[in-house]
Amino acid sequence: MKRIKAIYPGSFDPLTNGHLDLIERGSKIFDELVVAILSNAEKDPLFTEAERVAMLRATTRKYRNVTIATFDGLLVDFVRKHKAKAVLRGIRAISDYEFELQMALMNRKLAPEVETVFMMPAVSYSYLSSRLVKQVFRLGASVKGLVPELVEQRLYEKVNGRSPRRKR
Ligand code: PNS
Repeated sequence: MKRIKAIYPGSFDPLTNGHLDLIERGSKIFDELVVAILSNAEKDPLFTEAERVAMLRATTRKYRNVTIATFDGLLVDFVRKHKAKAVLRGIRAISDYEFELQMALMNRKLAPEVETVFMMPAVSYSYLSSRLVKQVFRLGASVKGLVPELVEQRLYEKVNGRSPRRKR
């Protein structure tokens, strides 16, 4: 039987519940799913590569066929190195489609044997992005329910420089 391995690439700065939703869906249809964190600092990430790896490892531990890795350079080189067949990407709304189509077709030009598979996250996460999570958190709003608890805690430490006070 052919085993299908897929790569789910992204910045994950930080991981949101929308990403986790997609990881869960991907883990159900692929035999193996590698979450690949883009490590280059082009986007000036809030969290370091090591911090993003740690948050993803801790929150995906329950999925036996999901592993976490980092990559730099071309995504298709990473896909080939891992002998994966597919790239998994999430599409939230039609506005994502144009850029995702461009990326998928560029990746197909570079590596015709690699397929891009799009999945939709749960509707309740369709407006969610790492960029907005960072923005609203920095401006003092709660991100409860939008990111895993661990990520919420790490955001607090990163932005406020200390751990959140425990409720008595
Ligand atoms: O979470 P993001 O920021 O939407 O993820 C974008 C990502 C990491 C998937 C994309 O920037 C990427 O694949 N970068 C690697 C460089 C590359 O392969 N470029 C050519 C294909 S467009």
